[in-house]
Amino acid sequence: PLSTLLASSISPALVFELSSREKRARRATMTTHHFACQLPMFMPVGTQGSVKGLTALDLENARVQLILGNTYHLEQRPGSALIETMGGLHNFVSWKQAMLTDSGGFQMVSLSDLLEVSEHAVTFQDPATGNTTTLTPEHCMQVQNRIGADIMMALDDVVSSTANDPKRYEEATYRTTRWLKRCIAAHKRTDRQSLFGIVQGGLDLALRRKSCEELVPLNLPGYAVGGLSGGEDKANFWRCVDASLELLPENKPRYVMGVGYPVDIVVCVALGADMFDCVYPTRTARFGTAMVSSGLLKLRSRSFANDMRPIEAGCDCATCKRYTRAYLHTIVTREPVASSLVSVHNVRYMMRLMEQIREAIENNRFEAFVQQFMRKQFPRVR
Ligand code: GUN
Ligand code: ZN
Repeated sequence: PLSTLLASSISPALVFELSSREKRARRATMTTHHFACQLPMFMPVGTQGSVKGLTALDLENARVQLILGNTYHLEQRPGSALIETMGGLHNFVSWKQAMLTDSGGFQMVSLSDLLEVSEHAVTFQDPATGNTTTLTPEHCMQVQNRIGADIMMALDDVVSSTANDPKRYEEATYRTTRWLKRCIAAHKRTDRQSLFGIVQGGLDLALRRKSCEELVPLNLPGYAVGGLSGGEDKANFWRCVDASLELLPENKPRYVMGVGYPVDIVVCVALGADMFDCVYPTRTARFGTAMVSSGLLKLRSRSFANDMRPIEAGCDCATCKRYTRAYLHTIVTREPVASSLVSVHNVRYMMRLMEQIREAIENNRFEAFVQQFMRKQFPRVR
């Protein structure tokens, strides 16, 4: 009921409704063209439109609400023209819930791909094939409009958080605003796709605030905090998230990009963030590491050779219902299906963590949840 809403915003293709709050932590619903997402949420990364090791059915069974694709990779293969003729990425990969495409800006910090950045465009060179891809803000929007994800990210000028180059951060921050304005002008499907702006500013809090002040009046349906989780220390990371979120509107979704580890998600939720993405749960699964409430299980360790327990007692994932640690230890790094089985667990672990966070905020128990979570992840050493 509307009377219980604390804040809301209605954009042509996105409705945001804030239903409870505990200090700065927020519980909200974000309704997009394809799906009503419960926030805070974690979004698994499927760079090519598919999450490594997992089928759409696996993702549905884990109760994933939104998967993330990458404009740059999808344009390289299979190309947005083909995706459009297939009825958009949702149809092409058979995914009915929400989707988000990142703009390709982040590939700029992957130095092997970045060829050149100018006011006009960013040019990448695929190190494997030598092929170049040029993205202007206009082309980036055209490609994302063809792909058809519910949420599209603006093309941003991203500088590594460890670059330590004040002039370059300043240039990139103001260029990100100029590119965002070009993205807004080029976006052709405002009726079913929502464009988010991205706050930049490196580790400079004044520049972060300046970035927010420029972006907020552009009145986008949602905002992201970018340029972080690239190897900077935690104190800087948290300070920048805090300074950015403080100036973003209360009635719009707030997405902290490239986060992350469960601990970082819990801290960012406490600072007022609603959306997260990271390759970590599926990437670490491929190396045989399972995520559990006490931290990590490295399934390659010989200590699991005779362990008849599931990865985590009480886990409701398809892997824990059926397989033992001993079996997973035996096949891990030998059989491709082991990566899938551990990915199923890790993605469900992240979904369950977010379900617990949402329930805690709804019941005004988030503070107690954080204490309990931290105690389990960092037990007292005796
Ligand atoms: N993913 C993680 N960080 C970023 C960022 O700063 N910009 C974009 N576009 N994607 C990201
Ligand atoms: Zn499990």
